[in-house]
Amino acid sequence: MEKALSWIFISDSGDKRGDVFHHLERSEKLHLAGHSEDWPSAQTLLNKLQPDLALLDLSHGGEGLKWLERWRILFPHTLFFCTAEGAAPELIVQAMRKGACEFLLPKMPGEEIERVVLSAQKRSLERGIHAPARVICCYGVKGGVGATTLATNLSVFAAKGLGKRVLLLDLKMQLGNAALFLDLKPRVSLLELVENLSGLEVSKLHATLARHHSGLTFIAGPDNMEQADNIPPAAVAQIIDLLRPEFDFIFIDCDSYFSEITLRALDEADTILTIAQLDVAAIYNLKRTLALFQRLGYHQEKVAVILNRYPQRMSDDLELIEKSISSPVFIRLPLQENGALIESVNTGEPVIMTKPQNRFSLQVAQLLQLLQGGSAEPATKQSKGGLFKRWARE
Ligand SMILES: Nc1ncnc2c1ncn2[C@@H]1O[C@H](COP(=O)(O)OP(=O)(O)OP(=O)(O)O)[C@@H](O)[C@H]1O
Ligand SMILES: [Mg+2]
Repeated sequence: MEKALSWIFISDSGDKRGDVFHHLERSEKLHLAGHSEDWPSAQTLLNKLQPDLALLDLSHGGEGLKWLERWRILFPHTLFFCTAEGAAPELIVQAMRKGACEFLLPKMPGEEIERVVLSAQKRSLERGIHAPARVICCYGVKGGVGATTLATNLSVFAAKGLGKRVLLLDLKMQLGNAALFLDLKPRVSLLELVENLSGLEVSKLHATLARHHSGLTFIAGPDNMEQADNIPPAAVAQIIDLLRPEFDFIFIDCDSYFSEITLRALDEADTILTIAQLDVAAIYNLKRTLALFQRLGYHQEKVAVILNRYPQRMSDDLELIEKSISSPVFIRLPLQENGALIESVNTGEPVIMTKPQNRFSLQVAQLLQLLQGGSAEPATKQSKGGLFKRWARE
């Protein structure tokens, strides 16, 4: 007999279980591995059990949708189904948009519910379906803070170290240099993709895009600076939409100013790595950038503050910095003093490949773990120090 598929039930309606729950519970092909009665603890359960399926009961409204949106990225191997008593059509549409694979209505006959669930699972296995890519923008709050360094190292590590399907998109419209960091000759530029958008066949696209030996796929910005104006911002969102199903991660190396194109990319992003460093200008920009993100309606979880070139001697000051910027710091990346990063640019080999044990590489690997919802610890709080009074006052 085939092994039963594991599933969990997630609801914030207390003990109340609807018809869909009871139909699935009775199925011999499914095994109920756990249940959770609130959204945050459901994430812990998903992490622990990594079930084949999860059923979300949205009878109490749409709060579960924002969790669904996050979980379909964090748990790509779990299929998410939704149900709700008296589900309004808008709720069903929203659930499907956020990544539900089917909406199961309580009125459906039991055998039909089982059939829908099992065939969705079979289809996903047959097609090797993955959740659509998680789009991660690397946005430096000013030039030179390390956006390209981070985008290239994360991409290479995700592709080579974790075996993920990775696209790196250089959206620095003028003087994009990610190709240089990877010693890659771009084959098709963003402009060419945009110009051929209407007839673009995704299945053929893979063969035309540049591949790095780590396995990552690369799309460069326009060849020369004047061409940047020929790229309509809306096309950037279209390209991202088109390529999302093809990859696990899309990393975007963004410009450090808010052009229309940058804004489109940031809108599309699931996560914005907002990169700063400890100098007055960068922290000033960081505060203004975070305020703008708030005005743009980006929720806090979408924005991850990264402090690059973090000196070892400053390790005590994190709490004060966080107070000053009114935001948690997601991770600190150390200042790499032995010239390894400069050398890596010269050789076109990201340091995470050539020197995986150096401090910068280890932190980048940890950052990726954090982004994947793994067990790595975010920046730890330590005792206050005295070097950031100026920012704290502002
Ligand atoms: N943590 C670090 N320690 C030491 N050097 C670093 C660190 N991070 C980045 N660098 C170096 O700083 C330089 C600038 O980095 P990078 O090009 O990644 O910045 P950027 O934000 O992409 O800049 P731009 O605005 O030009 O696009 C590079 O030579 C890189 O090797
Ligand atoms: Mg750059």
